[in-house]
Amino acid sequence: MENLKEIQATAADKLIAVDSEIKLAEFKAFVFGKSGLVTELMKTLKSLPNDQKPQAGKEINDLRVAISTMIENKEKELHRMAIDRAINEEGIDLSIDKPLHRIGSLHPLNRIRDKLVNYFVGNGYIVYDSPEIESDYYNFQALNIPPDHPARDMQDTFFIEDGILLRSQTSSGQIRHMEHHKPPLKMICPGRVYRSDDDSTHSPVFHQLEGLVIDKNVTLCDLKGTLEGFAKFIFGDQTTIRFRPSYFPFTEPSVEVDVSCFNCHGRGCRVCKNTGWIEILGAGMVNRKVLENCNIDPDEYHGFAFGMGLDRITMILHAINDIKLLWENDVRFLHMFD
Ligand code: DAH
Repeated sequence: MENLKEIQATAADKLIAVDSEIKLAEFKAFVFGKSGLVTELMKTLKSLPNDQKPQAGKEINDLRVAISTMIENKEKELHRMAIDRAINEEGIDLSIDKPLHRIGSLHPLNRIRDKLVNYFVGNGYIVYDSPEIESDYYNFQALNIPPDHPARDMQDTFFIEDGILLRSQTSSGQIRHMEHHKPPLKMICPGRVYRSDDDSTHSPVFHQLEGLVIDKNVTLCDLKGTLEGFAKFIFGDQTTIRFRPSYFPFTEPSVEVDVSCFNCHGRGCRVCKNTGWIEILGAGMVNRKVLENCNIDPDEYHGFAFGMGLDRITMILHAINDIKLLWENDVRFLHMFD
């Protein structure tokens, strides 16, 4: 009994000096190793008379538990010391009182783009990426807009050099897509486009989303159903659409598409300039010349295409009256959309 108390005291003394993982491992060996203090004690049990064995066994076990607890506490202490040391060495002062950085959020334009992309992808369209630096051929000629065509005037284009330009419309993506993929096709092409335009609703850089569907037996009704679904998704379930005749060289017939005003539901308000309708995109049935340019047989396949301005839709939805607000990156403006 005396002996056990002494052993416990010796162990406790020795443990005080332990200040590292290595020394702790040595200590464990010193107590519980092959010829450790406690191990040796266990061995003596055998030679005791039978009637003393239970009591002695219990006492040795108590000693074992007591030393194990001391070791556990030492482990915790070493762990705490390691953290303190790391904090000191790395010089981090966790007590410093500094305002937190504000976390950014998605730009309203990106939100609209993602929403539209998700909608169309959910309806079986693939997303096609097409270059922003484009040739005259893909941006105009293959879309049935030859060099002197008056339709070029509608898109005041930045030329980089002869025949090379900054794309003025994502419609160029249609041609590239049809060149590389066989119908049936369902694709959207979102991206930046460029025109020499600059006022409160036009910026030299803006964003469009092009859509293209090519298959057998595609009709104008399919186009209308598609755009109605999209309009309801973006502007709300009550939204209806209407087609007005228009002209684009790459579609025949061509339409301008209006949505019923989501703000006044047709009664007339500022958003719809008292007309009850808001113009949001151009569309039409793909012109057979465009299909021929892409080696698709216009007697076998038909298709529709549409193109919309993402900046315009974002501005309409959020009642933003100056397109520059989308570019200034004023965080007060951007945080309004968090
Ligand atoms: N590319 C046209 C523009 O920028 C928009 C457009 C109209 C795209 C009709 C189309 C379409 O695909 O069929 O004004």
